[in-house]
Amino acid sequence: MDGNGRWAKNRLMPRFVGHERGLNAVKKTVKGAMELGVDALTLFAFSTENWKRPQEEVNKLMSLFMLALQREVKKLHENNVRLRIVGDTSAFSYEIQQKIRSAEELTQENTGLALNIAANYGGRHDIVNAVKTWAKSNPELAIDDLNEDAISQNVALEDLPLPDLLIRTGGEQRISNFLLWQMAYAEFYFTDELWPDFDKASLQKAIESFQNRERRFGKTSEQVQNRC
Ligand code: FPP
Repeated sequence: MDGNGRWAKNRLMPRFVGHERGLNAVKKTVKGAMELGVDALTLFAFSTENWKRPQEEVNKLMSLFMLALQREVKKLHENNVRLRIVGDTSAFSYEIQQKIRSAEELTQENTGLALNIAANYGGRHDIVNAVKTWAKSNPELAIDDLNEDAISQNVALEDLPLPDLLIRTGGEQRISNFLLWQMAYAEFYFTDELWPDFDKASLQKAIESFQNRERRFGKTSEQVQNRC
């Protein structure tokens, strides 16, 4: 979700206004995703690197998470959304951690949209952590037993199908340590649109672009078209 700061700057407003509008875009996009029949949506809200931002901005982002958790969880639950926060939430305040726990518990049986918020998340850390979890839970195994399946089963969102599409707004064309393992075969879609302007129509455009691509997973075009 890139471009909140620039959106605000273009309007001579402080950066936090961009983040507030960014939260509006989150709501529009989540609603749009439900209406378009998306199974899972993961939003990168705060990276492990974002702590380096000015303290005032970090505080503002934390208050926005808190506000979103206070105001939106009931509505998400009523809409059968399963909410999960991925990332190291132990760095957040006790209040935020409590709200996260109760939101996840409340919505865990829901069968509609799987909405994941990546907060204090880093893809490299996720992979290292997966290896450690695997090693600790299989002390009888040797390093040569480690394989791709073992990592896949221990990274974040391991129970969901792998992401099909990565959308990055704000004109940057980077992955920025987001779901590195999980995105191995994802299609990438970059748009200059700034995150606060993103909505259902923007999401639909990204999905249409995805639908026009040929996913070969290493095979030839002929093999894919003949389904062999
Ligand atoms: C990147 O734009 C955006 C963020 C680091 C924060 C994203 C947060 C929200 C959209 C609001 C809260 C969301 C939830 C899910 C509660 P930027 O600040 O890097 O913008 P810039 O590239 O224009 O400076």
